[in-house]
Amino acid sequence: MRRNLTGRSILVTGASRGIGRRVAIRLAKLGARLIVTARSEDELATLVAEIRGFGGEAESVTVDLTDPLHRELLVAAAAEHYGGLDVLVNAAGVASFGEFATSTPLILRQVMEINYFVPAELIRLAQPHLQQSALNHDGWRPAIVNVASICGRCGIPSLPEHCASKHAFVGLTETLRAEYARFHIDVLLVLPGVVQSDDLNRHLIRNEGQIYLNFDSAHKADSVADSVVRSLIRNRREQAVGFVSGTVWWSKRLWPRVLRWVMKRKVQKFAARHGKV
Ligand SMILES: NC(=O)c1ccc[n+]([C@@H]2O[C@H](COP(=O)([O-])OP(=O)(O)OC[C@H]3O[C@@H](n4cnc5c(N)ncnc54)[C@H](OP(=O)(O)O)[C@@H]3O)[C@@H](O)[C@H]2O)c1
Repeated sequence: MRRNLTGRSILVTGASRGIGRRVAIRLAKLGARLIVTARSEDELATLVAEIRGFGGEAESVTVDLTDPLHRELLVAAAAEHYGGLDVLVNAAGVASFGEFATSTPLILRQVMEINYFVPAELIRLAQPHLQQSALNHDGWRPAIVNVASICGRCGIPSLPEHCASKHAFVGLTETLRAEYARFHIDVLLVLPGVVQSDDLNRHLIRNEGQIYLNFDSAHKADSVADSVVRSLIRNRREQAVGFVSGTVWWSKRLWPRVLRWVMKRKVQKFAARHGKV
């Protein structure tokens, strides 16, 4: 199946920078009509100007997605603006890099909130509109694209809150894929590995991890955005993006014991560095 996105109304979260921003630009170039959202008004305004500059259609709604009222207003505005909602792309997210033993209850709740509860509640709000989209357009299949992480398929040391939130998100995605089939809504999953961030200090709410993880020379956000758009067009149910993510994804299936050993080894290495073993 190939999904034609021309003229479709698409809500993209996390669009002020990083993966979400790049996804929005690519979708607009394909003729989709965009609603882009994040908290940073100026960055959204720049994005909308860029999209309109090449003849695309975009509107921004500035919200804090952790506020339930903001979420309601956002989805209502998105559906109202183009007379319906055809696709939801959940790309907003944060990460915390650091060990659980030295973390805090607040960090756990912050990460779970933005990475899990926010997209879950957005999906709940968007579902009736997406369902209507399937009824309005003969042969068209509305979709939800969840940008999770390979951390949603494998526990990785120094990323405990992130892995927990993304496992929850992946679990919800798999359940809704089955549940929403009766509404003719496809629920797709994209699993990036480590990605170069536009602003690492804003992406990480904590940056004290002990394992070696090089965000600067990681996978490019541009190619993750390409994969997100490809998944939507080709209706790919699950896509691990990049070498690291692909290797972990296959290893988890084929050699789970080896993968567990590698993860333990990473922890032993940093513990040894600090004279703890
Ligand atoms: N970067 C990586 O290494 C990596 C790896 C695997 C998976 N991922 C996942 O990919 C997705 C995108 O990551 P990224 O690298 O593009 O991150 P990013 O560059 O830090 O962008 C995160 C986006 O989320 C928005 N956001 C955060 N908190 C928000 C809130 N409370 N309300 C509204 N918007 C909020 C930010 O906008 P404002 O700050 O303007 O609100 C921003 O647009 C995330 O779900 C992330 O978990 C990233």
